[in-house]
Amino acid sequence: MNEHVQPAGSGPLFNPLAPDFIRDPYPHYDRLRVLDPMHVTPFGNFVASRHAEVSLVLRDKRFGKDYVERTKRRYGPKIMDEPVFRSMSHWMLQADPPDHTRLRGLVVKAFTARRVEDMRPRIQEVVDQTLDAVIEHGHMDLIEDFAYRLPVTIICDMLGLPADHREVFYKGSRDGGRLLDPVPLTAEEIKQGNAANLMAQMYFQQLFELRRRNPGDDLTTQLVQAEEDGNKLTNEELTANIILLFGAGHETTVNLIGNGLLALHRNPDQLALLKAKPELITNAIEEFLRYDSSVQLTGRVALEDIDDLGGKKIPKGETVLCLLGSANRDPAVYPDSPNRLDITRPNVKPLSFGGGIHFCLGAQLARIEAEIAINTLLRRLPDLRIDDVENPEWRPTFVLRGLKRLPASW
Ligand code: HEM
Repeated sequence: MNEHVQPAGSGPLFNPLAPDFIRDPYPHYDRLRVLDPMHVTPFGNFVASRHAEVSLVLRDKRFGKDYVERTKRRYGPKIMDEPVFRSMSHWMLQADPPDHTRLRGLVVKAFTARRVEDMRPRIQEVVDQTLDAVIEHGHMDLIEDFAYRLPVTIICDMLGLPADHREVFYKGSRDGGRLLDPVPLTAEEIKQGNAANLMAQMYFQQLFELRRRNPGDDLTTQLVQAEEDGNKLTNEELTANIILLFGAGHETTVNLIGNGLLALHRNPDQLALLKAKPELITNAIEEFLRYDSSVQLTGRVALEDIDDLGGKKIPKGETVLCLLGSANRDPAVYPDSPNRLDITRPNVKPLSFGGGIHFCLGAQLARIEAEIAINTLLRRLPDLRIDDVENPEWRPTFVLRGLKRLPASW
């Protein structure tokens, strides 16, 4: 074992909403992988922290989402009456085959590598316009003023939102992240989730009407036509999946850019290397994803009794929480100092976009957005400094890991 993976500290092994966990989960992961790699939480969930088990669970057909039953077990039988949970139950992200296959099949073509490559000029244009708006100021918040506008603008383009509808989404709340955390929501949080969900449903129903009357070359039109076609998808599924597509790439991509910029500025040698050799950006993005993943965890339910997963029996119906951020730092896969940022690291294959049938639909889009955003920023503002590299303010969520703000000057 090298010095970077010694189990450090003491206290509960997995307490993901504790402030020191949010600030830096990685020493906790080092302990988990060594001391209890298939940890059982007080809620009875299994926590997989090694790459081998995480990767297996994501790809193994004996595991699935089982969303409705899993949610009822957690909150009680009436939980699907709550609009936010009912809506999420229709997301492809929460669906098992055959529904998952059908829903994903309807949109997958819009996200192929070729389609996304074609978006490069538009992505560059949005990044340049965003920088033009702040460059004279001498300072900005890299999250709010820089990273946030890009993924919102691009998904609005893809969904065909008219330009004059968009401003409200740039200011949109980023509180949805709590919906994904593995700690039950409070009644108040459910109420807020319902309100936000109903607002979104109302907005998108209007957009569907617009696109029925006035079809465009966009994903909304495509899905509205699929709904009208008959048995391809219901109106509830249409609305839910448009909301998913709209939201899935915001916070995640913002955090890839934010966490990546923070990691670079905490490692000045790597920052200097990328400035000198911008062509390293493709590998650098994979390393940013590995080093500080913007999605830290996803869960699966055992669809049958599993005799042995990392030495534990998993009874049917139990949940395994897969720690993507921990798997990404497993020395069994990254033997060369996994806790070090190295933008030239060979064979970086992070699990940050998941794996198996739910592998992130927007992975290639997110990679290209982050490539262009980070390289353009380093080129146009070579003297940029982050104000407080040591103690930035993290958002209080765990599944989605990212910064509240990241003030910088030049
Ligand atoms: C699924 C991460 C950006 C849309 C996923 C999953 C992960 C993930 C881990 C799988 C979850 C699971 O297996 O349970 C990320 C990260 C991103 C990112 C780290 C950015 C850095 C995007 C973008 C979009 C998007 C830009 C779309 C515009 C989706 C969708 C799914 C998904 C629709 C569900 C796919 C399915 O269930 O088949 N993402 N994502 N994501 N992602 Fe992303």
